[in-house]
Formats: sequence, C-alpha cells, structure tokens
Amino acid sequence: MKRIHLLVAALVAGSALSATAADVAKGKQIAEKICAACHAADGNSGIAMYPKLSSQHAEYIYQQTKDIKEGKRTTGSAAVMMPMVQGLSDEDIRNVAAYYAKQNAKAGEANPKQNPEYGAKIFRAGIPDKKVPACMSCHGPAGAGMPAGGTSVKTAYPRLGGQHASYVVEQLKNYASGKRSSPAHMMEDIAKRMSEEDMQAVGNFIQGLH
Ligand code: HEC
Ligand code: HEC
Repeated sequence: MKRIHLLVAALVAGSALSATAADVAKGKQIAEKICAACHAADGNSGIAMYPKLSSQHAEYIYQQTKDIKEGKRTTGSAAVMMPMVQGLSDEDIRNVAAYYAKQNAKAGEANPKQNPEYGAKIFRAGIPDKKVPACMSCHGPAGAGMPAGGTSVKTAYPRLGGQHASYVVEQLKNYASGKRSSPAHMMEDIAKRMSEEDMQAVGNFIQGLH
C-alpha cells in the first residue's frame, strides 16, 4: 500500500514538472515567426530601439513580455510590440523566454569618446555623493544580472551587459520620471539621483560590457 502511494506521489510530481518545464524548440518557432523581426532570431538585435534579449534571464523576459502584452509596461516603444504578442498564451511566452535565455550574447562596444571611464566608475562604485549605489551590486560585475530568487525580486535582476546604450538611457529616464516601475522602487530611487550625463556615461559603458 505504502509503495503505491509513493508511486502515485512520484507520478504527480513528474507531471507537474513536465507541465511547467519550458519547451525551447517551440520557443524557437515563436521567436523566428514573431520576435525575430525586431529582436533578431538570436536576440542580438542590431537596432538600438529593440533591446537585446540573448542570455537575458528567462523569468525577466517572461514578466516583461507579459507586462507589455497586458499594457502594464507602456513606456518607450512598447506600443509597437504590444499587438504582436496578443495571440501568445502564458505557455508560449514561457517557451520563447527559455529560448532567448539560452542564446549567446554578442559583445557590443562602448564609444571611446563618450566618457566610458566615468561610466565604468558609476557601474562599479556608484556615485557616493549622490547616494547612487554601484550598478554591479545587483546587475553583476560583468552585467550578467542575477536569476530570480530570494525574497526581494521575483523576476530577476536583468542582464545589462552589451545592451544598446540609448535603450539603457531611455529606461533610466523612464524610471526617474516614474513612468516605468520596478520591484520595491529599486530603479526609480536610483535613477532619480542621476543626471543626464551620469545616465549617458553608464549607458555607454554598459554597451561595451561583457
Ligand atoms: C514590432 C517589433 C517587436 C516585436 C515583433 C517584438 N518586440 Fe519585444 N520589444 C520591442 C520594443 C520596441 C521594445 C522596447 C520597448 C521600450 O522602448 O521600452 C521591446 C521590448 C521587449 C522586452 C523587454 C526587454 C528588456 O530588456 O526589458 C522583451 C522581454 C521583449 N520585447 C520580448 C519580445 C518577445 C519574446 C517577442 C516575440 C514573442 C517580441 N518581443 C516581439 C519590439 C518588438
Ligand atoms: C538594488 C538593486 C539594483 C541596483 C543597485 C541597480 N539596479 Fe538596475 N535594476 C534592478 C532591478 C530589480 C531591475 C528590474 C526592474 C523591472 O522589473 O522593471 C533593474 C532594471 C534595470 C534596467 C532596465 C533593464 C532592461 O533591460 O530594460 C536598467 C537599464 C538598469 N536597471 C540600470 C541600472 C544602472 C545603470 C544601475 C547603477 C546606476 C542600476 N541599474 C543599479 C535592480 C538594481
């Protein structure tokens, strides 16, 4: 009798797992059919308006795609993407997120004329006078971010390394004005204390970070 219970428990656990495990092959099909037009099939978009998705954390891609689909993230050019993802189910979004998370990120380049040294300083040490913390304390020393976990963040500290500078600056401005929100207002509080020059310098550094 006991053995049968164990067997049933194992089967239930097994099916629960397979229901939540993402299907990367199905995700690839969705990426090629829908997302590639803007983000590129491997997620290394070459156009600054479209953020790079390669190697981004799956939980983060999932949450942002859902937020854009449901009209919860409307800043910047999100309206361009919104109609393209209306037909996707939660499972589709999970699959495509898993696919992009597995793609290799190609390194970008910082513009040597746009203060990358000051940007590096902000990224690694923050701006103590303005109480801006080091970006790497949450986004990692190489900008790889951190997967979800712990109690403070459920959707991961996103990967920033190699992201388009102008996209990064745009997001910082959106957080500063409160148009885009983040868990526990983490990014709003930081971005509000940064000047345009700070944002440009750190964005330029991030574009070349890998
Ligand atoms: C018509 C172009 C277009 C298509 C197609 C498109 N997107 Fe986007 N996507 C955008 C734009 C533009 C943004 C940036 C919005 C902004 O300015 O904040 C974006 C942002 C995102 C973000 C947020 C990235 C970040 O770093 O915060 C994710 C995740 C994303 N898209 C996933 C997808 C997925 C997955 C698909 C396919 C199912 C897709 N997108 C299809 C244009 C598109
Ligand atoms: C306390 C932790 C923390 C620190 C420190 C931090 N960030 Fe963030 N950052 C986050 C979290 C969490 C998110 C995801 C927010 C969301 O879900 O919209 C984020 C998101 C971002 C995004 C949007 C990414 C995207 O793909 O759209 C940018 C850009 C960013 N941070 C830049 C920075 C910069 C630059 C610094 C340093 C000046 C910094 N962050 C410091 C936690 C942090």
